[in-house]
Amino acid sequence: MTKQFIISPSILSADFTKLGEEIQSVIHAGADWIHFDVMDNHYVPNLTFGPMICKALKPLALTVGHKPVPIDVHLMVEPVDALAQAFAVAGADLISFHPDAVRHVHRSIQSIKSSGCKVGLVFNPAEPIGVLSEVIEELDLILIMSVNPGFGGQSFIDASLNKIERVRKLIDASGKPIHLEVDGGIKIENIRLVADAGADAFVAGSAIFGQKDYAGVIQRMRDALKG
Ligand code: DX5
Ligand code: ZN
Repeated sequence: MTKQFIISPSILSADFTKLGEEIQSVIHAGADWIHFDVMDNHYVPNLTFGPMICKALKPLALTVGHKPVPIDVHLMVEPVDALAQAFAVAGADLISFHPDAVRHVHRSIQSIKSSGCKVGLVFNPAEPIGVLSEVIEELDLILIMSVNPGFGGQSFIDASLNKIERVRKLIDASGKPIHLEVDGGIKIENIRLVADAGADAFVAGSAIFGQKDYAGVIQRMRDALKG
């Protein structure tokens, strides 16, 4: 069976003057998930959008494709818990947070799971992954940052490949169906390398929204992942 790869376009790089149309276009272009980057000007030095925008876009994610497209919320905020609940109500399917942004990692994981959403932990380039030995069995997703969080359009940090390889081993050892997602600087040119390190889900912002033909970029990413 061929491996199922997930492409999750980040709307951080979309044209905000027509966000609804951008979501429709990228779903028609073959997006598997929609990556929703939430920044609070506190945990990261940038400010984006909150649950109201998620709620407004959710009907598009449900109806535009042949099947509902999950909303993959990446919280770059501190504190996490109350906002995560607001995103669950607003229609998030998957909610990921940074363990260094909370005091009780296990409690925050449980709280997101009890809201009915899938849960992920996100690791910055310099963030150790030791906490995974305590909580990996609780997770649906592990997100490795291959840039420092806060902005789209940065270059992929090559040292992330080693971390992706280490996390892949932990996931395989757990025997659980946990996604390994990578976020930052993913392009047609490097997606294969990142997959070979063990990733199965790829966030891409500027690589997709920076081109006119979204479907063409996504197809070329899938071609690079094949064989
Ligand atoms: C960065 C965000 C990323 C960002 C990726 O803090 O988490 O999701 O949008 O953008 P690109 O693909 O342009 O590096
Ligand atoms: Zn992100």
